[in-house]
Amino acid sequence: MVLKAANLTKRFGKFTALDGINLEIDEGQVYGFIGPNGAGKSTTIRILLGILKATEGVVEIFGKDAWSDAVEIHKRIAYVPGDVNLWPNLTGGEVIDLFTKLHGPINKSRREELIRKFDLDPTKKCRTYSKGNRQKVALVAAFSSEADLYILDEPTSGLDPLMEQVFQECVLDLKSQGKSILLSSHILSEVEKLCDKVAIIRDGRIIETGTLNDLRHLTRIQVLVETKMPITNLKDLKGMHQIEETNQGLSCQVDTEEMDNVMRHISRFGIVKLESAPPTLEDLFMRHYEGNGKVAGIGAGGDN
Ligand SMILES: Nc1ncnc2c1ncn2[C@@H]1O[C@H](COP(=O)(O)OP(=O)(O)O)[C@@H](O)[C@H]1O
Ligand SMILES: [Mg+2]
Repeated sequence: MVLKAANLTKRFGKFTALDGINLEIDEGQVYGFIGPNGAGKSTTIRILLGILKATEGVVEIFGKDAWSDAVEIHKRIAYVPGDVNLWPNLTGGEVIDLFTKLHGPINKSRREELIRKFDLDPTKKCRTYSKGNRQKVALVAAFSSEADLYILDEPTSGLDPLMEQVFQECVLDLKSQGKSILLSSHILSEVEKLCDKVAIIRDGRIIETGTLNDLRHLTRIQVLVETKMPITNLKDLKGMHQIEETNQGLSCQVDTEEMDNVMRHISRFGIVKLESAPPTLEDLFMRHYEGNGKVAGIGAGGDN
């Protein structure tokens, strides 16, 4: 195991930001850490990095203590923070070199390839960069670094879709090299292509962990369909919700696990148009609370 966090609790004064977080990342795993803004992702990550001290609980990374052995551990970690702040008077290229050197000799060709892929101008002073460009600098530095564990805190939140594609390729490349990656996000669909396992955090607690397949019973796909013939018996199918006739066709929600069945049924009526939207995090939360009736328990204490 690369990383193990047990019972992490963090209080800021009276406010409990984290309440008994457990995480376990295995070698070679891409681990998604998913939750809405304010859920506690960055706070958890800062504790993992030894930047913040937990009120309770312990973190072991590479078998060492994240707080007392932080310096040792950091030689093997590359980190992209949620809000990237860079030295204003250094150029992007200088910052990339500075970070990369922490992990040994710079691999120049890799650095150049990443700068090209991310379409970054490394000669500009950091103070002139947009949020997206600062993020690119941090990403190029991290992906150029020879590390064993990559901790990426909402790394794509300022990137356009084309760059997100590049990002995903970089993560898969690391994965193929057997590296471990912790990837936080507040958008479920953004990470599902990449992650072997996800933990869903809300209000400082992990409410679900598993593979995305494990979580499938909690997600629904939004579907809009137009057919040559009117669809019959749709209501009777398993996993159908919120069926509505609209100007553009029939709109409905389908349980992810029933998608195959539903599509087979619909296709018999001659599909003219079909649109689908991936499950959202909000949707997953709703299903979670519907499913286990623990709404009050989890929601309580959350007047923050
Ligand atoms: N230094 C701090 N002092 C007080 N509250 C904090 C501090 N850092 C974070 N918080 C609070 O802890 C909660 C979790 O924040 P954060 O970990 O940044 O969430 P996320 O990264 O998931 O958006 C938020 O309610 C935030 O306001
Ligand atoms: Mg954050």
